Amino acid sequence: MKDYLKKFSSTGILVIGDLMVDQYIWGKVKRISPEAPVPVVEVTDENLLLGGAANVANNVISLGGKVFIAGTIGQDDLGKLLVNKFTEKGYNTEGIIIDSNRPTTVKTRVIAHSQQIVRFDREIKSDISKSTISHIAEYVKSCLPHIQGIIISDYSKGLITKKLVKTIVEIAGPKKFIAVDPKTGHFGYYKGVSLITPNVNEASSGSGIEIVDEKTLIAAGKSLLKKLQCKAVIITRGDEGMSLFEKNGAITHIPTCAREVYDVTGAGDTVIATLTLSRAAGAKLSDAAIIANHAAGAVVGEVGTSVATQRSIINSMKTCKPEVIKS
Ligand SMILES: Nc1ncnc2c1ncn2[C@@H]1O[C@H](COP(=O)(O)OP(=O)(O)OP(=O)(O)O)[C@@H](O)[C@H]1O
Ligand SMILES: [Mg+2]
Repeated sequence: MKDYLKKFSSTGILVIGDLMVDQYIWGKVKRISPEAPVPVVEVTDENLLLGGAANVANNVISLGGKVFIAGTIGQDDLGKLLVNKFTEKGYNTEGIIIDSNRPTTVKTRVIAHSQQIVRFDREIKSDISKSTISHIAEYVKSCLPHIQGIIISDYSKGLITKKLVKTIVEIAGPKKFIAVDPKTGHFGYYKGVSLITPNVNEASSGSGIEIVDEKTLIAAGKSLLKKLQCKAVIITRGDEGMSLFEKNGAITHIPTCAREVYDVTGAGDTVIATLTLSRAAGAKLSDAAIIANHAAGAVVGEVGTSVATQRSIINSMKTCKPEVIKS
């Protein structure tokens, strides 16, 4: 499997999705406000991180792949900041469109004494316009000679529409591997993509079969394969790992290794990034899923990291050898 990792540096991935900024404001609380019964936070620190599809792209870069990115930002300072961060990291940013009808999506969390006090979101979630879809379509076409795979990272913020997915599939499928990290409510959009990676809740709602045991898990996986006419479905199952369902009927369950978990946010982003990069580098789907499972396990087990690296995958492979079950 290490041979595939070596190929990451010559593998191009186009990430299309809802770009977001995660803003963290840290502080201390010493008193209650005289204006309302709320704490007064004295701000001590603040930082901005890449979120949503931008975090998926960040994973592809930290794994050593080449990133092309398409999405929208607002006509605002945060949008400029995102583009600057992308440029610094070496992404091709020609697919980023300034949409003056919506702000750059930002989630702000205020944290005092290690506890989140409030989160506020600034976003407009309406569907993107026809002209934005045509812009993205042109960009996808221009990327084709340079990429081996496409990731559609759907956070339900308006970028991923049925029309956009259809357009991408028409332009790039079936030659390019197209993987989707789906959102509940959008399963009708993804017909014809190569693979989707719902978590258990998303797979339950997308298939209409509530996953409560192995039997319902298998029924849901098979139902999604059929419904979406895709090559494969991977249901991610948190600390239980993931299950891969392939069109040829093969089912592979990949468990995780027991480990101390620090932060599970972003595990899904790591899965889709690693999986697509591995598959695009030539790995078969079951191997790509095993590599992605190592990457996500390593990320949730490390403090303060939200992205995978080749080193963390190799270290995990050395220490963690879960028994893969075919059924
Ligand atoms: N507690 C854990 N221990 C080990 N690995 C884990 C744990 N939680 C998640 N993972 C890894 O991360 C993968 C994705 O996790 P999960 O199924 O929670 O996705 P998700 O709900 O989409 O996550 P996200 O919150 O990022 O959207 C799992 O398939 C597994 O490989
Ligand atoms: Mg997810």
